[in-house]
Amino acid sequence: MKVTVVGAGAVGATCADNIARKELCTELVLLDIKEGIAEGKAQDMMQTATLLGFDTKITGSTNDYTKTAGSDVVVITSGLPRKPGMTREELIGVNAGIVKGVCENILKHSPDAIIIVISNPMDTMTYLALQSTGLPKHRIIGMGGTLDSSRFKYQLSQHLGCSPSDLNAVVVGGHGDTTMIPLIRLATWNSTPVTNFLSAEQQEKIVKDTMVGGATLTALIGTSAWYAPGAAGAALVEAIVRDEKKLFTCCVALDGEYGQKDICLGVPVTIGRNGWEKILDFQLNESEQAAFNKSADAVRSMNDVLKTL
Ligand code: 2OP
Repeated sequence: MKVTVVGAGAVGATCADNIARKELCTELVLLDIKEGIAEGKAQDMMQTATLLGFDTKITGSTNDYTKTAGSDVVVITSGLPRKPGMTREELIGVNAGIVKGVCENILKHSPDAIIIVISNPMDTMTYLALQSTGLPKHRIIGMGGTLDSSRFKYQLSQHLGCSPSDLNAVVVGGHGDTTMIPLIRLATWNSTPVTNFLSAEQQEKIVKDTMVGGATLTALIGTSAWYAPGAAGAALVEAIVRDEKKLFTCCVALDGEYGQKDICLGVPVTIGRNGWEKILDFQLNESEQAAFNKSADAVRSMNDVLKTL
C-alpha cells in the first residue's frame, strides 16, 4: 500500500506522522512545493521509526510528483491555513488554484487513487476536486465532518464527564463556523441519548462551541489547528486501507440524498477500500433538514465563486 500526503505544513505532517505510527502503508510520500520542507520533515519522522517501532518508509519530495506514482490514497492538505479572525471561506481564491493543480499532478501518476481533501474551504475544495478531475464520486472524500464530529464528542465529554470514546455523535452539513450542524438530538452516551443528561443551556453551549471549534483554536494558536485535523485525515486513510466500512461524516457528492444535488456536503458515510461506499439516512427532523438546506445554500454560493475565478 502506498499513501501520499500533499502539503507538509502542520496538518499534512501530522497526518503523515499518524499514518506512519499506525503503519497504514509500506510507502508514504510527503510532498510540498517549498524547497526542502517535505524532505526535512520526512527525515525527522524516519528518525522516530526505531523509537516508535514502525516500518513505514517515508520519503519527502519538493514538488516531484513522479515520487508519488502508484499511490492508493492521496491526502490533499495544500493551501493557505486560516489566520485569526479569518473564515475558511476567505481562502477560496488562492486555494482553488492550488488544489486543482495538485489533483491534476496526482492523477497523472496515480490514476486509481482515492483522494481525501482537507484544504479549506473544504466543502468547496471537495466539489472542485470532483468537478475538475471527473473521477467517480466515491473516490473523492472531504474530511471536515470527521474532524467536527470528533470536536463535538470532545465538547460533549467535557459536560458529561465521560470518555469521548463512549459517545456516538455526528456533525453534518458544511465545514464552516455557521454551516455545520451538530446533531445533538441523535447523540448517544453508549446507547442513551445525551439529551437525557444535559440541560437546554448546556446543549446550546455544546453545539455553539463545536461550531466555532476551529476558530477558537485559530485564535489561541495564531494559525489553524493541526493535531485533530491531521488525525482525522489519518483515520480516513486507515478506514480505506483496512477496508473497515466504518461510519464517518464526510463531505461527499450528493445526488438527491438529504434532499440535495450537485453539491458536496457532510453526511454519514461508510468508508472502505472503494472510498466512500454508502450514505446513511439519519432521517433528520424538520428543523435539522431546514438547517441542512440552509447549509447547502451557503456552500452552493461558495461553489459559485469557483465560476468567477
Ligand atoms: C479546522 O477546522 C483545519 O479546517 C480545519 O481546524
